[in-house]
Amino acid sequence: MIVGKLSGRTSAAIAILCGLSLGLAAVSASGQSLAGRWVAEGRTLDNGEQTKSILELKQNGDELTGVVKTLGFTAEVKGTVKGNHFELFVAEWGKRPVVVGDLVNGELHAMEGGHHPIVAKPAGPNDDLPSVAYIEPPPLHKVPSNGLALTPPMGWNSWNLFAGKIDDATVRTMADAMVTSGMKDAGYIYVNIDDTWEGVRDAHGVLPSNHKFPDMKALADYVHSKGLKIGIYSGPGARTCAGYPASLGHEAQDAKTFADWGIDYLKYDWCSARNTYKDEQLQPVYQKMGDALQATGRPIVYSLCEYGMGDVEKWGTEVGGNLWRTTGDIRDDWSSMIENVEKQVKTAPYAGPGHWNDPDMLEIGNGHMSNDEYRTHMSLWALVASPLLAGNDIRTMSAETRAILLNKEVIAIDQDPLGKQASPVKNGDLETWIKPLADGSVAVGVVNLGGAAAQATVKAADLHLAGAASKARDLWSHKDVEFKNGAYASTIPSHGVLLLRVSAK
Ligand code: GLA
Repeated sequence: MIVGKLSGRTSAAIAILCGLSLGLAAVSASGQSLAGRWVAEGRTLDNGEQTKSILELKQNGDELTGVVKTLGFTAEVKGTVKGNHFELFVAEWGKRPVVVGDLVNGELHAMEGGHHPIVAKPAGPNDDLPSVAYIEPPPLHKVPSNGLALTPPMGWNSWNLFAGKIDDATVRTMADAMVTSGMKDAGYIYVNIDDTWEGVRDAHGVLPSNHKFPDMKALADYVHSKGLKIGIYSGPGARTCAGYPASLGHEAQDAKTFADWGIDYLKYDWCSARNTYKDEQLQPVYQKMGDALQATGRPIVYSLCEYGMGDVEKWGTEVGGNLWRTTGDIRDDWSSMIENVEKQVKTAPYAGPGHWNDPDMLEIGNGHMSNDEYRTHMSLWALVASPLLAGNDIRTMSAETRAILLNKEVIAIDQDPLGKQASPVKNGDLETWIKPLADGSVAVGVVNLGGAAAQATVKAADLHLAGAASKARDLWSHKDVEFKNGAYASTIPSHGVLLLRVSAK
């Protein structure tokens, strides 16, 4: 896990996706221990800066423990050594090592994040990450509502598919595709640039974009010309998770830059802020940017990204937030998706118009789940009133992906103006989520978590309708269905979903 409270999953995903350089260590075949402090000078970022990592490792037999510190984050790691070969993992991330390599002539020759070669050398006493000056956060006060996001924000975000490989041209073609694919008409309005757009601050502290985004204002104008809105990414620390400059000490200045560019949405990611602030300071630190955004006078949706630390659902709205991540990073696999949505149980009372829990962006169409699983993903996100931020390639999506993302009857559940978040009831492998809707009807979703098809029976009596179930519609088959003797039964494939909208007389 990340030292402090940043989750292991998040840190691992950061390590894998951001491609930060890590150093490493362990006893090798030659008898040399991997224990100690290692430094890896990293690759060059898109703004020309060099990444750097410090690895502090302890070795006990063939087991390794320690801490990886990068510009963007600090994480606890565990691993093993066999002969000269070592592997390091971030707890909870799973089976894929964050760093894997060999001890070669007193150096660690490793592959980080699957494809970034690194060489770590024993660190000298002066080898460390740059120090960051502490800035006291402001006293707490309630930030007034900005009146935005009365239903969960919908759009597209670059991170899940492109990570660091995002640029102006890709964003433009994605904006085009948002229109031509029908996404825009279905309500997907925000085109959000995630991490790695940042340049290097100038002598006045102004943060420009890097060479991948030659003219951010022109890009924003282009996106706006399509009838869409544009989002950007920063964080309260000195560095973003990928190691780029973030907003610490420049909050008002960055908010003004974003407003001048015409930005409509900011995702603000904790990352290296944990190296500067304590978890107890999350609120004033997030409030600082909440105030700074409002001071610009431009309506900017404020998305907090701190992985659910400190019960953010209880105070996110007070610091000016419109939505807040409640989990670590989603991955394009069934267990990750289900794990994220199941963490929403405790957050349910806190969702409502203007303030939403965010179990992370969609993976629909990214290829590592079945279409049944993606239909479940879409249904669950709609039932928990989650932001719907597609994370796939809209330009090339298949007809099936399109049918899932553009299912207007499911989107209507997500966007229901009452803004209630469903909670689950489990019965064996079947999990039932019920969401009350503004017109008095309910959405009911039954998910089959098991490995085989299962029969589900939805009982009208469980739906707390104001009368007997009179009208029911299956939102995936797009057919009206009938409750007989107060119940409706259907077979649900493994990892599939039954999603109904039911109304009373
Ligand atoms: C964190 C966030 C991700 C993404 C990356 C970018 O991991 O949780 O959603 O923004 O940072 O570096």
